[in-house]
Amino acid sequence: MIKLTNDYQKKLADIKPSANHLTYQAKINSGSFYTPSQLVNYVWKFINPFLTKNTTVLDTSSGKGNFFINQKNKNLSLIAVDNDQWAVNYLKENFSFLQIIQKNALTDIKRTNYGISENQNLIIIGNPPYNDLTSLKARKIKENFTTNLVIDPQIKSRDLGISFLRSYYHLKADYVCILHPLSYLIKETNFNHLKEFKNNYRLLKSLAIDSKKFTDAKGASFPIAISLYQLDNKGMDYEYIKSFSFELEDGRKFSLNSFQFLTGLVSKYPKKSFSSDYLDNLFFFTFRDINSIMRNRTFIQEFNNYSVPIEKDKLKYYAYIDYFKEEFQDTIPFYLRNMDVFYSSEFQEEDWNYFTQRIMVKLENKKPESLNKTPKIKEFESWVAHL
Ligand SMILES: C[S@@+](CC[C@H](N)C(=O)[O-])C[C@H]1O[C@@H](n2cnc3c(N)ncnc32)[C@H](O)[C@@H]1O
Repeated sequence: MIKLTNDYQKKLADIKPSANHLTYQAKINSGSFYTPSQLVNYVWKFINPFLTKNTTVLDTSSGKGNFFINQKNKNLSLIAVDNDQWAVNYLKENFSFLQIIQKNALTDIKRTNYGISENQNLIIIGNPPYNDLTSLKARKIKENFTTNLVIDPQIKSRDLGISFLRSYYHLKADYVCILHPLSYLIKETNFNHLKEFKNNYRLLKSLAIDSKKFTDAKGASFPIAISLYQLDNKGMDYEYIKSFSFELEDGRKFSLNSFQFLTGLVSKYPKKSFSSDYLDNLFFFTFRDINSIMRNRTFIQEFNNYSVPIEKDKLKYYAYIDYFKEEFQDTIPFYLRNMDVFYSSEFQEEDWNYFTQRIMVKLENKKPESLNKTPKIKEFESWVAHL
């Protein structure tokens, strides 16, 4: 299991580049978090088998050109695009072998804007900005930010990064190898927002890395995927993603199918009206995934905009989430942090009873000794087949 030891922290510090010309606020708004070379190298390794003479390699959100450092190659046509004037000036000063274009990549999306012909073999690489405007946390950070960025309606989405992925289909890239939050694939709602991208590309390879590898990434770790896609009109559905084998840098693999998720057993979102099937004096704080559970409160006694009503016969599941939070707060590795809470299929009725009893004791401020007994619950790694 990956733990943030001092050594690991030190290694991270060595590899992080930064967009120093921007304030933290401006970086968040434009998603300007530059990619460390170690991660860029994975991208070139993944696309290497598909490079032919005359392939065009395009990065439409190239920032300071990190994906092109030391990549001069007379057989390839390399194009760097960014809408940030400062980044484009930097590129012009530092990369004589690149074609450099200042453009908003999310509008008027066609190959001719980049001088690429229809029959040219095109590979898109990069680390497009991502910023989900719907999350509680992002809303707080961005509340004073009004963007005048034009995004074509055909690719408009709630997350900038999702719009970028969709733009790649409109350029008909033969391969796409980019960094994006793993949540674009593993959260079904996000995955569905990929629309024409998921309908026309197939994931060939995906390596999950820790967001902490980016300098400016504050807050909890979450998984970023380095994903290679191939244009393929079969596309992919969520079942394909569920059985896909995601890789970790240490060679281990995991797939969603090997987890037993609580999804479907609990509801996550606030609801205004509810019936006598629900508890009337106990609620759960709204949540999205493991990271939000680790960050926020669990049970709350007041009814407000964040309160999720609890169905009486489902209390045991919410009680388990509270247990999961406390038990695994420090041990959940980054690559599981955007998943739903999972449990062991071997839990018996007595385990579920234990979770409920435990929460009752907690809410009544009693000492834990008043609990009958602690069931033997194994480390979660053993619940997951492939870890
Ligand atoms: C996450 S940074 C990545 C930079 C670079 N690819 C790297 O990894 O080091 C995203 C970049 O996208 C640029 N960007 C944001 N919105 C854009 C848009 N609509 N069109 C073109 N570039 C954009 C930002 O200026 C920023 O340089």
